[in-house]
Amino acid sequence: MKGVILAAGKGTRLYPVTRHIAKPLLPIAGRLTLDYAFEQLKGMGITEVCVVVGENENAIREALGDGSEYGVELHYSRQIEPKGLAHAVGFAKDFVGDDSFVLYLGDAVYDRSLAEFAKKFEESGCANLNLVMWVEDPRRFGVANLEGDRIVKLVEKPQEPESNYAMAGMYIFGPQIWSVLPDLQPSARGEYEITDAIQTLVDRGEDVRAGIYEGNWFDTGTLDSYLETTAFLLNSQSLMGHEVALNAPIGSSVVIGDRAIVNAGLIEDSAILPGAKVNVNGTIRHCLLAGTVNHDGDLENAIFWGDERN
Ligand code: G1P
Repeated sequence: MKGVILAAGKGTRLYPVTRHIAKPLLPIAGRLTLDYAFEQLKGMGITEVCVVVGENENAIREALGDGSEYGVELHYSRQIEPKGLAHAVGFAKDFVGDDSFVLYLGDAVYDRSLAEFAKKFEESGCANLNLVMWVEDPRRFGVANLEGDRIVKLVEKPQEPESNYAMAGMYIFGPQIWSVLPDLQPSARGEYEITDAIQTLVDRGEDVRAGIYEGNWFDTGTLDSYLETTAFLLNSQSLMGHEVALNAPIGSSVVIGDRAIVNAGLIEDSAILPGAKVNVNGTIRHCLLAGTVNHDGDLENAIFWGDERN
């Protein structure tokens, strides 16, 4: 089995920091975001991995290289324009060949191993197995109707969901998926949806299953979820990088990257990226800061790179 990680997104919800650092390379609790994906794939026995990249290609290639530092053998494929997950996965077709593969959304972080789902896929011989999770309000996700562990219907972001099972960012496919991609039509939001591709498998009578995940799942693409993930992984402790020059009292959940220089009245629930130079004449609270940041007064709920403020 091989691994495909989708990492082409621009990370607009974390602008302006992600204008300077590709989202998949953002450190979360001291590790690159993509390293969490590598760890999960390795737990499933997968070492051959293709990262589908976009405009961030050079930055990602430069940072990850051949993957040996992370214990994986990395390949890269460039998605020319962002047109949805089912479009992105098509760029990994040559890499996957006749094998089956795990499709992993690059900004997903899970606190439990997903290895049992790869085992279940292989033992069942099904065409596709998808990670699903019971959520209170599934309207912003793909939603799966289940009969036992079979998926019988899938809808992308329904206004009136028929189930609480959200598609949770990890999919395992056999080669059947390649035959449905060419016939897909764009959805109302103009994207080729992986959900629609899977619904086509269901319509064709393929064996499509769900793996119910019961741990914590984070999508790290917004400031809130980025900080929430960081705090969770640190267990509300703080993490200090190497050679940090810190002149600020620390509150809860603070991550400060290597070589950062931080002067502030107080810092809490925030992440300062490696190499940042931060001078804030007040409190830093609920912020993601990078580059050179000089600010007079409190800084709250900010994603900040130097003078660019979001
Ligand atoms: C995508 C999928 C959706 C899935 C979600 C998980 O949504 O289309 O089915 O539930 O990822 O994060 P998007 O993040 O593109 O809105």
